[in-house]
Amino acid sequence: MQTRRLDQMLSRYGYCSRSEARIWLRANRVTVNGEVAKAPDQKATPESVRIDGNPIECPDGLLALLNKPAGYVCSRDAREGPSIYELLPKQWSCRNPPVTSVGRLDKDTTGVLLVTDEGALVQKWASPRGHVPKTYEVTVEPQFDPALIDTFASGRLQLKGEDRPCLPARLVIISPREARVELTEGRYHQVKRMFASQGYQVLRLHRSKFGEFHVDDLEPGQWRLLPIAHYLPFRSAK
Ligand code: URA
Repeated sequence: MQTRRLDQMLSRYGYCSRSEARIWLRANRVTVNGEVAKAPDQKATPESVRIDGNPIECPDGLLALLNKPAGYVCSRDAREGPSIYELLPKQWSCRNPPVTSVGRLDKDTTGVLLVTDEGALVQKWASPRGHVPKTYEVTVEPQFDPALIDTFASGRLQLKGEDRPCLPARLVIISPREARVELTEGRYHQVKRMFASQGYQVLRLHRSKFGEFHVDDLEPGQWRLLPIAHYLPFRSAK
């Protein structure tokens, strides 16, 4: 892997700012190949560095899967309420670039949410052209009319203010007011707007799958790291 200055490295991975790095180094908190490092401009590979005796976290980029609980927004704006970033280690938001969510879920929506500091993955998975399949579990009001299955599948469902109809979506009715919806798009508030266009209010929305990812093993609010290299096979070392 490429070498870089220690002060840049500490800042890149969210430990401290470049100016604070000097203090960290003076306090003997950083070693390179087991030797205490003192100079902010010393160059090293991330693998050779230890901070307080620990390897650098996710030197190849960070990718994590969060089971988003209800009541959290995907923005960092405190005026909008508690943020998903409060559920993640603070250091992740100090990385440069910081971790961001791959697309967004509404405040009241729960389930699969990826976060990463790798722009190429956000691009690949959140882009409208990516057509990542997504599965949502919904509870609605009033009870379903089975004709909704064909409406969703038709490819003709038109949302207010949009010039193109929604791509065909699969609706599986599970009980009078519960269903599973599979989409390959990610338009703004898409699920709620699709149901609203047909006279239904979504009372509960849970994203159970995003591409290959699910959160069956995670409690709401829990996260786990994913092996980013697996999803960026062609990237050169940074
Ligand atoms: N569709 C919505 O309406 N809301 C979400 O949070 C996700 C998809």
